[in-house]
Amino acid sequence: MQTLSQSLKQSGINDELAKLITVLANTSKDISQAVRHGALAGVLGVAGTENVQGEDQKKLDVITNDMLKDALAAQGSVKALASEEEDEIVPLSKDGQFLVCFDPLDGSSNIDINSLVGTIFSVLPAPSGDVSEQSFLQSGRKQVAAGYVLYGPSTMLALTTGKGVQLYTLDPVSGDYLLTVDGVQISKDTGEFAINMSNQRFWEPGMQAYIADLIKGKEGPRGKNFNMRWIAAMVGDVHRVLCRGGLFTYPTDTKDPKKPFKLRLMYEANPMAFLVEQAGGKASTGYETILDVAPSEIHQRVAVILGSANEVDACLGYHK
Ligand code: F6P
Ligand code: MN
Repeated sequence: MQTLSQSLKQSGINDELAKLITVLANTSKDISQAVRHGALAGVLGVAGTENVQGEDQKKLDVITNDMLKDALAAQGSVKALASEEEDEIVPLSKDGQFLVCFDPLDGSSNIDINSLVGTIFSVLPAPSGDVSEQSFLQSGRKQVAAGYVLYGPSTMLALTTGKGVQLYTLDPVSGDYLLTVDGVQISKDTGEFAINMSNQRFWEPGMQAYIADLIKGKEGPRGKNFNMRWIAAMVGDVHRVLCRGGLFTYPTDTKDPKKPFKLRLMYEANPMAFLVEQAGGKASTGYETILDVAPSEIHQRVAVILGSANEVDACLGYHK
């Protein structure tokens, strides 16, 4: 099996980008260790602070954010980073050619129950001149790399540099990421969906009607039974979609009128949409392709509907 470094070399991407991906991958190995030690290392529980979105930060949110920040700061090619756990962008190397956005520990409500969590990252080209928040406001189509690391029963890296999607599994013996699936393809059709059903009464009428029809199963207009899964960590749900198809959505809702969307465009929706499109799936807000959304601020949130192409189309049919 190829190691990550062998497969990056073979992919023909530029050396600087390969080095940056290697740094992200190496840091994820340290994060994997921190997550694995859990209560033994005293890293569980809340940090006593809130992030810019007013959410309680867990100790591991802060620890993993610092690990990535330190690793990227030591790497000359990153001009600045933006993190879900940082109020503002963090300028790094003046002449860096990349911008990196990340969610250091996605699904952090799963930490204290020893369930799935992950790291999501996105790499954008850095515009010339002084760096500011404006430099980051590029559509997801501009990403040069994106991926996630899933800290599950095994630690896995899903990566795209625009040449399909590769899945690597961390070998606990050698400490290398080994290429275990090359050219991931999401099945066009699916019988599985993922949504937080408890928000049903807050969804738009289109989403209400779509899910209602799925639940009617064989006797309903779709003429087949659907199964439901919800991991409550986007990395876990998207990983399942990459592995066996499905539709994952965190739709618009009116639960908190100030926050109609849950997921973040720059740290979650864009990198996942890049992976999903590269694997033959689709990713939409319900009204627009996610990768074409023009960002207006780094912490912006969006509605997300992604996964098996035909099922995403079916869902979008209810949104017209
Ligand atoms: O980062 C936000 C997030 O944790 C996602 O990973 C996940 O899909 C979602 O929120 C879970 O939301 P809820 O708490 O509504 O289940
Ligand atoms: Mn997250």
